Amino acid sequence: MSDKLIYFDNNATTMTAPEAIEAMMPFFSLRYGNPSSMYPFGGEVADEVKKARERVAAMMGCEPREVVFTSCGTESDNTAIWSALRTQPDKRHIVTSRVEHPAIASNVPFLKNLGYRVTEIGVDEKGNLLWEQFIEALTPDTALATFLWANNETGVIFPVEEMAEACAERGIQFHTDAVQVAGKVPMNLSKTKIDMVSISGHKFHAPKGIGALYVRRGMKYVPYLVGGHQENGRRGGTENVPYIIGMGKAAELAMANMDDENTRVRALRDRLEKGLTDSITYTRINGDTLKRVPNTTNISFEYIEGEAILLHLASAGICASSGSACTSGSLEPSHVLRAMGVPFTAAHGSIRLSLSVHNTQEEVDYVIKTFPPIIAKLRAMSPFWKGDGPAEDNSMLTCETGSCQVCGV
Ligand SMILES: Cc1ncc(COP(=O)(O)O)c(C=O)c1O
Repeated sequence: MSDKLIYFDNNATTMTAPEAIEAMMPFFSLRYGNPSSMYPFGGEVADEVKKARERVAAMMGCEPREVVFTSCGTESDNTAIWSALRTQPDKRHIVTSRVEHPAIASNVPFLKNLGYRVTEIGVDEKGNLLWEQFIEALTPDTALATFLWANNETGVIFPVEEMAEACAERGIQFHTDAVQVAGKVPMNLSKTKIDMVSISGHKFHAPKGIGALYVRRGMKYVPYLVGGHQENGRRGGTENVPYIIGMGKAAELAMANMDDENTRVRALRDRLEKGLTDSITYTRINGDTLKRVPNTTNISFEYIEGEAILLHLASAGICASSGSACTSGSLEPSHVLRAMGVPFTAAHGSIRLSLSVHNTQEEVDYVIKTFPPIIAKLRAMSPFWKGDGPAEDNSMLTCETGSCQVCGV
């Protein structure tokens, strides 16, 4: 095991910024007042929560009163769906995509059981939304269209602003999960027709366990967590003050780092991608390389298994993630790559590398150097690889056969 730590899994979570931790500390100890209290000891804390809300609103390009603090991106997503359905009880249809994060996708069977009709729009081979299918799916019965802004696995960006326009023209609420966009791509929500937006602090250097939902002013909205009057009656529960302060600080840092993210981090990601695809045969980049968030690459190393690559990377101190899911008990590779029609041999060997402003060129070069021997070693052991290329008969290489031919599960 290496004692190095090269962290290239920032779409899973990020390091909490030291500045955010420092800003949070007093609110765990001396400044413990309840922001809803009438006395100054609480009121002063409420002032700090207000500042944090302003900072998050500045990052999202909206008004502070449009920001509702939640416990995470998942809560924000569930709240958006709940609110759209509860405020429009006569509408029984939802439109979403086939490549959503589980925070949205796991609602689909549940909603179907409740009698809702759900249309899941497909994507093309680069992960771009099938626009015509989307437009055709919008009906007078549609309560909500909910789509990722950027895909967590590939980084591919959906044209959510145009999608929201199309929904607004038809009186349909539009929600986007922007968890992978916050801090990476500038947002100017006030200039859009988007109704609700989910973000999550731990994806942009705030701690885990804090999120927010943008709710456009004047929107029909009901809370998901019903309780006290916190968050202007839009989310019950005493505010998680230290984490809200931490997210405010992280939002401020994200704004300051936005240029670095879109220039230096983008260049590092591109260098990494080129280094790996130039030095290793039978690779493919999954996702539209021209329409991605700047920090993410998803690369398939064909004829081997992603989880095996991850284990070898971990021994070299590199943290990444894979699109296949054998260790989670499922034989299927990523639903995102499958929706894109990525061949099975490639989908199974996909690795997501996601960078942040804390990464350096030395780290990128170390990863570029570390990969080729790992891939060569795994291919030498793969029954679907012979010599310098794929074995002649790979016809059995499919999950449809019922047992996983690549990883042997
Ligand atoms: C696109 C997307 N949506 C939602 C979530 C869930 O966010 P949280 O972990 O804050 O619940 C994630 C986290 O991986 C994500 O990537």
